[in-house]
Amino acid sequence: MRMVDLIQKKRDGHPLAKEEIDFIIEGFTGGSIPDYQMSAFLMAVYFQGMDAEETTSLTMAMVNSGDVMDLSGIRGVKVDKHSTGGVGDKTSLIVGPLVAAVGVPVAKMSGRGLGHTGGTIDKLESIAGFNVELTEKEFVNQVNEHKIAIVSQTGNLTPADKKLYALRDVTATVSSIPLIASSIMSKKIASGADAVVLDVKVGSGAFMKSLPAARELAETMVRIGKGVNKKTIAVITDMNQPLGYAVGNANEVMEAVQVLGGRGEAGLTRVCLTVAAHMTVAGGIYAGFDQAYAALAGVLQSGRALTKFKQFIQAQGGNPAVVDNPGELLPRARYQAQLKSPAAGYVQSIVAEQVGTAAMLLGAGRKTKNEPIDHAAGITLQKKVGDKVEYGEVLAYLHSNREITPRAMTMLSESFIIGTQRPEELPVVYDVIE
Ligand code: URA
Repeated sequence: MRMVDLIQKKRDGHPLAKEEIDFIIEGFTGGSIPDYQMSAFLMAVYFQGMDAEETTSLTMAMVNSGDVMDLSGIRGVKVDKHSTGGVGDKTSLIVGPLVAAVGVPVAKMSGRGLGHTGGTIDKLESIAGFNVELTEKEFVNQVNEHKIAIVSQTGNLTPADKKLYALRDVTATVSSIPLIASSIMSKKIASGADAVVLDVKVGSGAFMKSLPAARELAETMVRIGKGVNKKTIAVITDMNQPLGYAVGNANEVMEAVQVLGGRGEAGLTRVCLTVAAHMTVAGGIYAGFDQAYAALAGVLQSGRALTKFKQFIQAQGGNPAVVDNPGELLPRARYQAQLKSPAAGYVQSIVAEQVGTAAMLLGAGRKTKNEPIDHAAGITLQKKVGDKVEYGEVLAYLHSNREITPRAMTMLSESFIIGTQRPEELPVVYDVIE
């Protein structure tokens, strides 16, 4: 087989066989297929797409490029979750302890973020002492004892995806549905859970800007999951404005505590309950979605989810007292500023992507892999879309350990659109694909 012939075949719109896709992924991961040929191939996929069979073959070729986690030492049905990413997305911090509180084992590997804010691992590291690196034995024992462990990605999972993603990033080929779907699903399959709930974000702050595109991505991933006998459910949720109020790291942990204690913002709480309800049904705890949703809402109110969060923090070496006193015990920024409303009226929109960029300018995220993160940095919104505001009322607080620049302030201020009419309410959950 020659790579040039396979590039030509894809360029001309013909489907590739499994053996051909295996040849490409093995050759690229092993180094015999150079970046320039792989770049041409990725662009051909970008324009010609891939059918369902090809996408599944690509996914499995990437799974087989590295190790697959063996979670068989953990009792129960292991259910993972994954979000396609957005601004202020702290759902894993909430959903993990919530489903663990009712007995679903959560054995999760998460990443550090590249982008607007840190990833789940960075957010957890804003808790003093929290250890994200457990041995495999410690990981398994902790999940068996407490039903939850969240660790930083270790081992050699999907090396093909890592190499491919880096190339896609610099060849304008990230936003291709078969490439995104196979990238995400390869990691989920290699992580070893029995079932997975995907939170596919749609809107200005998401990869997928339109509902049809989000649906197509969701359907593609569900099809891949089913094709390899992994129960897979996708929920499509809104990312036209940041999720909840907090965008950053420590402030997102603080907001997670509020939701886990039953005092969270309505939209964020609904997304978390929706994802968690599907996870607990997949895990065999409840018979159906409505029953699960109602029961889990009760778990938030009862304090059981918060108690589980404390146990989880303590088990991983963190200070559980942050749950009772987050304002004092989480890192606090040296500088704070307020963004005030330039007019009276109603918040029409809050452009999520711009809020994310402003948070990154404050130090909450990283542009390159090894950059440090300022856990105390970020933005805490005081108003959401549809809220009434008075002239001069605070719309958001900015926090940073570096001086707050006019650029960050302008970026945030331009993300808020204030108008005189109350806007239509934004949907929170658009669809469920299973
Ligand atoms: N997230 C991933 O893991 N892969 C993609 O290709 C896009 C988003």
